[in-house]
Amino acid sequence: MHLRNRHKVTKAVIPAAGLGTRFLPATKAQPKEMLPILDKPTLQYIVQEAYNSGIRDILVVTGRGKDSIVNHFDHSFELEAVLAKNKDWSQLNEIRSISEKVNMFYVRQKEPKGLGHAISCAEAFVGDEPFAVLLGDDIINTQPPLIKQMIDVYERYQSSVVGLLDVPDEDVSKYGIMAGEMVEDSIYKVEKLVEKPAVEDAPSNRAVIGRYVITPKIFDILKTTKPGKNNEIQLTDALMELSRHEDIYGYAFKGERYDVGDKFGFVVANLEFGLRDAKTGKQLKEYLRKLDLDRF
Ligand code: G1P
Repeated sequence: MHLRNRHKVTKAVIPAAGLGTRFLPATKAQPKEMLPILDKPTLQYIVQEAYNSGIRDILVVTGRGKDSIVNHFDHSFELEAVLAKNKDWSQLNEIRSISEKVNMFYVRQKEPKGLGHAISCAEAFVGDEPFAVLLGDDIINTQPPLIKQMIDVYERYQSSVVGLLDVPDEDVSKYGIMAGEMVEDSIYKVEKLVEKPAVEDAPSNRAVIGRYVITPKIFDILKTTKPGKNNEIQLTDALMELSRHEDIYGYAFKGERYDVGDKFGFVVANLEFGLRDAKTGKQLKEYLRKLDLDRF
């Protein structure tokens, strides 16, 4: 085994350069990563997952118009002064902890050339270490956090790992799809990865969900990865090439996953987080029980 794979996973990359066209007009002047699920921007849940998995250095790959992301993870002196004056210690602690927990780094993806290209922008930050990738459209509720479970798989196999979830036929063309042999409960050795195939061409229904632990060899591969599906440089294609040089594993996780990049998934996430919340849950349950659905 090559020595460089023996590093611990301490860094995460979160691509956040997309235009958010599925949420227009809300995303005309604000990043989709800042749209809230209940009271937190979607990106904060992703950062929290990385933090709860032991990661302290996080690179967000941004684009133009994403400055509010940078501000959200910084101190807000005016707001903190007002909360302190009002002795609102719980909110003050909450606001402060967002900026104090992790070291946030930012780099701009200057052209929208796809997820693979966004990841290649992280090379200087990552260096010669394995790293985690968390996509902002997938909010995942597992205990321990999914990326922590995948780091554990990485450490056992000393190989890249992709998160997997079975999807119905009609959703196959929305994802990277994997084929491979099961090597132990929930773990597959990847043989094939195809980006967004038509259902008749898909090798399985096992979709790659937005969590990855990847070895740094991916950066060499991305330098020569040609544009693929939708004329974009696809991470899936680069991972397929990586699997020709190193083993890659898939981890079929158990737990809830919300596709908040989709309007329906976004509304469902808000509803379920609202139902689980100590302040809104009870009231929302009562409201839903009495709701006359025929009114709509
Ligand atoms: C990306 C990846 C795809 C993966 C998906 C997971 O697609 O390209 O392989 O299955 O994320 O959410 P996107 O949803 O950005 O189009």
